[in-house]
Amino acid sequence: MGETKKGRILTGDRPTGKLHLGHYVGTLQNRVRFQHEYDLFLLVADYHTLTTHPEKEDVLLSRQHVLDVVIDNYAAGVEPDKVTHYLQSDVPETAELTLLFSMLATVPRLQRVPTLKETMQNLHITEPSSGLLNYPVLQAADILIVKGDLVPVGKDQASHIEVTREIARRFNNRFGEVFPEAEAFIPGDAPTLVGIDGQAKMSKSLGNAIMLSDDAKTVREKVMQMYTDPNRIHKTDPGTVEGNPLFIYHDLFNPDVEQVAEFKDRYRKGQIGDVECKKVLAEKLNAFLDPIRQRRCELEARPDDVIDILRQGVRRARPIAQQTLAQAREAMGLTSHVHASLIDLYS
Ligand code: TRP
Repeated sequence: MGETKKGRILTGDRPTGKLHLGHYVGTLQNRVRFQHEYDLFLLVADYHTLTTHPEKEDVLLSRQHVLDVVIDNYAAGVEPDKVTHYLQSDVPETAELTLLFSMLATVPRLQRVPTLKETMQNLHITEPSSGLLNYPVLQAADILIVKGDLVPVGKDQASHIEVTREIARRFNNRFGEVFPEAEAFIPGDAPTLVGIDGQAKMSKSLGNAIMLSDDAKTVREKVMQMYTDPNRIHKTDPGTVEGNPLFIYHDLFNPDVEQVAEFKDRYRKGQIGDVECKKVLAEKLNAFLDPIRQRRCELEARPDDVIDILRQGVRRARPIAQQTLAQAREAMGLTSHVHASLIDLYS
């Protein structure tokens, strides 16, 4: 495995619960798309969850979410025999590499990472822990410890991959070539998927998400509540299509391109109501989600098999991580024979 591939992908999910359409558009579909060409590494980022949810109850709760995010990947079309999927904290070498990397990123640089401010605002955090500040450095360690070349992520993660590249460059300049300059793969045409409330980002915690696991009725209800053009009161009012969630979703999930074009035209002219466009969208979304729901159901019935995937994943990932960490330590001069000679000195 791996020899004939173009390179290695590393990406992952925090275990915060089931995944939604925003995850699908942002990263899942690219995992599915690239899994045959690349050696695909996926992780469940439980250390990252600690940065915002460090309480014991939070940790126990996130444990329950691990299988959910793993299953959603396979439900979305990732093939279990194509991946090395593991729990981040099962590869604790990641934490040591994070420590080494944290010397290569300045505090002001990390304070400028836009997701820090957003996270603090969303979660009402007034003083970030050094762990939260170091979030992108931990992510760099995830990627570089397996020497990931390509990182399919949503647009919101771009600044973290930038930090990763800076750390790799700095390390290589200072200590010699150890790490690849990982590249982000971000869906270029589609920005971060808006929520059903029209807010900039679909997020479970904002309550504006359509989950991959939502049943058909829930999907229908959510679509019927969807925020559209706020200035349009009657269906005979000319409507705005640009930036209207209804049409952002039609563009992404309605494969009938001609129908979408026709709806847009009639919407602009005030010849079609929101309700009709929504009904069709709900149907199309349900057609898209049906096979995903079905695979999810099958996997939920076999949790032991899912856990086994994670077991095999760590078996493959950990030796790779150990080897990379040894190379990094060696390059920095933190070799074990130095330890040995220090012991000699003091004995
Ligand atoms: N920070 C990512 C997110 O919130 C999850 C993640 C953790 C990740 N480690 C990663 C993504 C490494 C890509 C590569 O979605």
